[in-house]
Amino acid sequence: MEKTQDQIAKQNLKGCYIKTYGCQMNVYDSERMAEAMAAAGYRSVDTPEAADMIILNTCHIREKAAEKVYSELGRLKPLKDKNQDLIFGVAGCVAQAEGAEMIRRAPSVDMVFGPQTYQALPDMLNELAQTRAAGKQARIVRTEFPAEEKFEALQLQERKPITRLPTAFVTIQEGCDKFCTFCVVPYTRGAEVSRAALDIVQEAEALAAQGVKEITLLGQNVNAWHDRETGTGLAALLRRLSDINGLARLRFTTSHPNDMDEDLIAAHGNLPKLMPYLHLPVQAGSNKILKAMNRHHTAEHYMDLVSQFRLARPDLALSSDFIVGFPGETDNDFEQTMALVAKVTYAQAFSFKYSPRPGTPAAEENQVDEDVKSKRLAALQDLLNKQQKEFNESLIGRELPVLFERKSKIEGQITGRSPYLQPVHVYMNETALGELVTVRVTGAHANSLSAVALD
Ligand code: SAH
Ligand code: SF4
Ligand code: F3S
Repeated sequence: MEKTQDQIAKQNLKGCYIKTYGCQMNVYDSERMAEAMAAAGYRSVDTPEAADMIILNTCHIREKAAEKVYSELGRLKPLKDKNQDLIFGVAGCVAQAEGAEMIRRAPSVDMVFGPQTYQALPDMLNELAQTRAAGKQARIVRTEFPAEEKFEALQLQERKPITRLPTAFVTIQEGCDKFCTFCVVPYTRGAEVSRAALDIVQEAEALAAQGVKEITLLGQNVNAWHDRETGTGLAALLRRLSDINGLARLRFTTSHPNDMDEDLIAAHGNLPKLMPYLHLPVQAGSNKILKAMNRHHTAEHYMDLVSQFRLARPDLALSSDFIVGFPGETDNDFEQTMALVAKVTYAQAFSFKYSPRPGTPAAEENQVDEDVKSKRLAALQDLLNKQQKEFNESLIGRELPVLFERKSKIEGQITGRSPYLQPVHVYMNETALGELVTVRVTGAHANSLSAVALD
């Protein structure tokens, strides 16, 4: 069979395999890295075996997340033993936190580069190639923090239609100035920087033109976003994005309780495209622990925000992150977390055992026993799972608009998301993929709904 021009072109390109860990911003960053690699003559490949360069885009949030990177490097090592030209790159938050230390621990790594350096990937590859051509052993470590440069470079890159999904992420803010005492993010992502409004709008317009119907705005403190020229906040940006034809749904994550303002609360009542789902991490229910966490808000302040949101949007579904076993947490403190959960009632939530992170203040203090942490986590997750199931069950019989994203594992079924972000499975023609279709909910499961087409 004759090869098409396209196939020949692909054969001549090198392959790049990117594996992504951690949060949604890493997912977004990996897409941008794939674009930067395309500019350097690499196409994306689906397996490490087919790659000339492997990038691990890493997460440092908990010890387990960081350790995964080293085990993966160990698993990949035989590929490098077979092919000395293969390039190993480590990006993301572990790269930022460990820098050159990574190369000492994993000598197979050629490049370590932090989240604010991706625009320089083609340069780094050139430097690596030149040093190697000169017969020297090259290693590249880049961990500087020019976040604004990264945003400017994003604007210049052509956003490829790498996916036919009707949903997309758009980073609007990066970094964190909050310094919760348990968290590495301010150290790995740097200070809070807002991306220029015009660039965000242009990216959203380009995505809408490609058929994207739902955009999730991303930021470590997304509601700290503000227009660098006018000072207006996230609600004004959401209004501007609402005007884009073709976009049907807007979401944003993750918010900090202290950066909420009245305008953003009101937007949940008066912007129809803004989905009735809010991820608002509280972390704990005891004011003593919240203070030790340096959260700068109390349980009462959080409850008050929740009431204001529900006044603006009565069907709002809430989600949160929780940490159990923070240093100094007593049974009584933990009971206050349980009481807060019982009062709020969450549609979904993420909960974790406290994991001491080197260099963060809380890692030094009196730690809670591992088995106590495990027991508390199990109790909290029981309650959260029960609430999630009840929320899912409350929707049975309701008609909901679902944005269909993919075929499901079961033949004949397709899957999309409800306004409340639940996966919804329906037996329906694949022509509905990429479309918003109203369906009737018939069943509720732990993490999803099933539904039928309306007649
Ligand atoms: N504002 C951020 C939060 C990132 S971290 C965002 O954009 O999502 C996500 C969650 O991980 C936090 O809300 C917290 O609940 C949890 N987390 C962070 N550091 C942790 C630690 N040292 N141990 C356990 N959980 C942690
Ligand atoms: Fe971490 Fe706190 Fe910043 Fe969230 S607000 S990224 S938990 S320091
Ligand atoms: Fe992990 Fe960094 Fe995201 S530590 S959660 S990848 S900001």
